[in-house]
Amino acid sequence: MTEEPERTSFDWENRFVADDTPWERQELHPGMLAWMRAGELEPGSRVIIPGCGRSPELAFLAGCGLDVTGADLSATALAFQRQALEAGGHEATLLEGDVLAHRPDAPYDRVYEQTFLCAIPPRLRVDYERALCEWLKPGGHLLALFMQKDVPGGPPYGCALDAMHELFPAERWIWPDDEDFVAWPHPSLKGKPELAGVLVRR
Ligand SMILES: C[S@@+](CC[C@H](N)C(=O)[O-])C[C@H]1O[C@@H](n2cnc3c(N)ncnc32)[C@H](O)[C@@H]1O
Repeated sequence: MTEEPERTSFDWENRFVADDTPWERQELHPGMLAWMRAGELEPGSRVIIPGCGRSPELAFLAGCGLDVTGADLSATALAFQRQALEAGGHEATLLEGDVLAHRPDAPYDRVYEQTFLCAIPPRLRVDYERALCEWLKPGGHLLALFMQKDVPGGPPYGCALDAMHELFPAERWIWPDDEDFVAWPHPSLKGKPELAGVLVRR
């Protein structure tokens, strides 16, 4: 992957260098742990974490025996992930650059979407949806954590369910019932809830 600066209007790299990263939860995401318990993240599955940043889920899932790929624009975040993997004796694939340009050799079983969709400029969302369709095998799962935020602007940009239904249309995605989404308040982003739900690629 190559870096395409126009893919972001936000200086992510410098935020990592300055350690100014309020989106980080400082713990494993409880929604991810619930999916783990529900059998959504089986050892051996191929999973990609777009915009993985420094999130601990990457090394955790690698340690649980999943075939994990983490992708990010930030060299500093990926250096952190490399160190965390080495410290734990785990392996994962790390891709530096614009993940929207990523075209894998083999499809993924799962995409773990944690504060990436809400981080990219909304005009790029359609590109992301198209990429997700290409990444996932038919029947593959998008483990989505849709950030809820009423105020305009971002990042984070709000991912209201109505807008998500438009972005992930029913002809390409099988949706759970809206009532089945589970709300996980974010501990540092003023408690904004992330709605957890699994969308299945048709
Ligand atoms: C809000 S942070 C979330 C990081 C991580 N998922 C977490 O929960 O801690 C968004 C991440 O997406 C990365 N990012 C933004 N645009 C990107 C792009 N086009 N390709 C790859 N990574 C990108 C940023 O560098 C940053 O690490």
